[in-house]
Amino acid sequence: MSTQETTPDQRGFAPVTLDLGDALLRPWGRRTEVRGGAAAGLLAAAADPAIARWNPIRATDRAGAEAYLDRCDAGWAGGTTAAFAVIDAADGTLLGNSALRWVDRADGLAMIGYWLLPAARGRGLATRATRAVTDWGIATAGTRRIEIAHAVGNDTSCRVAERCGYPAEGTLRASHRYGDGTYHDEHLHARLATDPEPPVR
Ligand SMILES: CC(C)(COP(=O)(O)OP(=O)(O)OC[C@H]1O[C@@H](n2cnc3c(N)ncnc32)[C@H](O)[C@@H]1OP(=O)(O)O)[C@@H](O)C(=O)NCCC(=O)NCCS
Repeated sequence: MSTQETTPDQRGFAPVTLDLGDALLRPWGRRTEVRGGAAAGLLAAAADPAIARWNPIRATDRAGAEAYLDRCDAGWAGGTTAAFAVIDAADGTLLGNSALRWVDRADGLAMIGYWLLPAARGRGLATRATRAVTDWGIATAGTRRIEIAHAVGNDTSCRVAERCGYPAEGTLRASHRYGDGTYHDEHLHARLATDPEPPVR
C-alpha cells in the first residue's frame, strides 16, 4: 500500500502516501498536492458546519491555514502527528482527513480523528481511510493502542469507529469542549494492535 518507505527510528516519520485505489492519503503539509491548493481546501473544510462543530480546524484565513499545514509538517518531522489528506485519485480534489496523534509515543498510545467534506460522506470512505491509517500506525510506529473519542450524539462517528474495529469502552463525562463552545460527554473507543482485523463490508 505504501508508495514510499518510512524511517525505522522512533523520532520523525518520512511522509508517506497510502493508496486506496480511488483515493490517495497524502501527508498534510505545505507541499500537499490538492486541486485548488491545500490551504484553500482546508478553509473549505473549516467552514463546513459539521466539521466546525465536531472537528474544528481553527483556521479562518490563508495565514491560519498555512500555519496549520506547518504544524502538520512539524508533526511528521517530530513523530508526534501523522496527518493524511484524503484526495480523489481521479481529479485531485480534497475529500477529507484522517490523522493520528500520539499521546505518548514511547508508550505506543495514540488517538485518531477524521472528517470528510459533505460530498464524500455516506460511501464508506472515512472507514476505509481510517482503517488504512490505523494499519499504518500499528505497522510503522509500533503503536500499541489507538483511541477514538467522539461526542455522544455524533452517531456517524460512532459507526466509523465500530467499523474500523474500535469497540466502545465507556463514556467520558464532559471531557472535551467542541466547536459549539460547550463540553460534551464522549464515547471512548479503542483498538489494540493485538485486536483482530475488523471484517470488510
Ligand atoms: C464522521 C464522518 C467522517 C463520517 O462520514 P461517513 O461518510 O458517514 O462515514 P463512512 O465514510 O465510513 O461512510 C459510512 C456510511 O456510508 C455507507 N456506506 C456505503 N457504502 C459503504 C461501504 N462500502 N462501507 C462502509 N459504509 C458504506 C454506510 O451505510 C454508512 O452510512 P451509515 O453510517 O448511515 O450506515 C462525517 O460524518 C464527518 O465528516 N462528520 C463531521 C466531522 C466529524 O464528526 N468527525 C468525527 C469527529 S469524532
